[in-house]
Amino acid sequence: MSPTRTSDVLVVGGGIIGLVTAWRAAQRGLATAVVDPEPGGGAAQVAAGMLAAVTELHYGEETLLGLNVASARRYPDFAAELTEFTGQGLGYRGCGTLAVALDADDRAHLRELHALQQRSGLESQWLSGRECRRLEPMLAPGVRGGLRVDGDHQIDPRRLAAALVTACERAGVTVHRAWAERLVVAGDRATGVLTADGGELGAGQVVLAAGSLSGRLAGVPRDVLPPVRPVKGQVVRLTMPERPGPFLSRTVRAVVRGSHVYLVPRENGELVIGATSEEMGWDTTVTAGGVYELLRDAHELVPGITELPLTETRAGLRPGSPDNAPLLGPTALEGLLLATGHYRNGVLLTPVTGDAMADVLTTGELPEVARPFTPRRFGAAVLTEQPV
Ligand code: GLY
Repeated sequence: MSPTRTSDVLVVGGGIIGLVTAWRAAQRGLATAVVDPEPGGGAAQVAAGMLAAVTELHYGEETLLGLNVASARRYPDFAAELTEFTGQGLGYRGCGTLAVALDADDRAHLRELHALQQRSGLESQWLSGRECRRLEPMLAPGVRGGLRVDGDHQIDPRRLAAALVTACERAGVTVHRAWAERLVVAGDRATGVLTADGGELGAGQVVLAAGSLSGRLAGVPRDVLPPVRPVKGQVVRLTMPERPGPFLSRTVRAVVRGSHVYLVPRENGELVIGATSEEMGWDTTVTAGGVYELLRDAHELVPGITELPLTETRAGLRPGSPDNAPLLGPTALEGLLLATGHYRNGVLLTPVTGDAMADVLTTGELPEVARPFTPRRFGAAVLTEQPV
């Protein structure tokens, strides 16, 4: 059977990573298509949208830091370009982040993080508990100190996803609202996909950008199947009161009893509190325990949240990879590329991913900043059974 519709590039997955890849590829003159039953959906519908290259720095992830910082630097121009092209706001706020400590252990942990940030050339400022409360009066009296990071901003991922759908449409990307069921491999190369509604979409290059589902596309040879697994995150949304002065004026976060909790105040009055991190396979149930823990920990940081209306609870799946970093670029199968495995950093890494994928799709080469993230860094050895 010959494919019914063909393009230069077919992106499997219409979340923010797939959409930005398609948009940037179309801007470079490639005939581009996206296949997804619900473009603009996926983890971005749940994510808080912190652009936290500095406050989410972890030991052992210094290589990833380079990519995160490169993407954070691109964000202001990226957001301005996307807004100008689509006429849609993204809720981008350069409001900064305050990471606080509630007890002596947290404080020691935050001091270590501060030292690591300084060694890595990142800007952050140590504040006493009193200085933290002066910045954010709603903080609990028990806050023992914190790190002020003015460079860690935020965006509204739902608005980002909606704008990227519009950008793709305006740039001439063809959007197929269907499930990609199977990769088509002819000879030694990927040539398209079969869809669940019985169609075949042909393409010169196929980009697998299906988030946590990327390891599940049938027909992908085992040695190039991305080692991506779902990592569940539960999030709650509250509404902040309108009053003189903001309830919170920046993102506030902490590690409470070993769990990360963050409160992200949006311009529109929404307060996003996240997130659990659970290895539960494909489960997206919102649980009483998950919501309880988030509210309990957030309440320790900002006691006043208990007065606010609770407007939404939701769970999403992060695409986790073995080293917590994304897989970008060509695989060992000719014609098949990956843009997946962004784990906790999908929103932050959207601009740099779009640019890197457009480069590799047009030149065959990843730009320097993205080279460490080639899927080829994982041999077949890490490929275990994918969770179901
Ligand atoms: N980057 C925040 C999260 O994954 O929860």
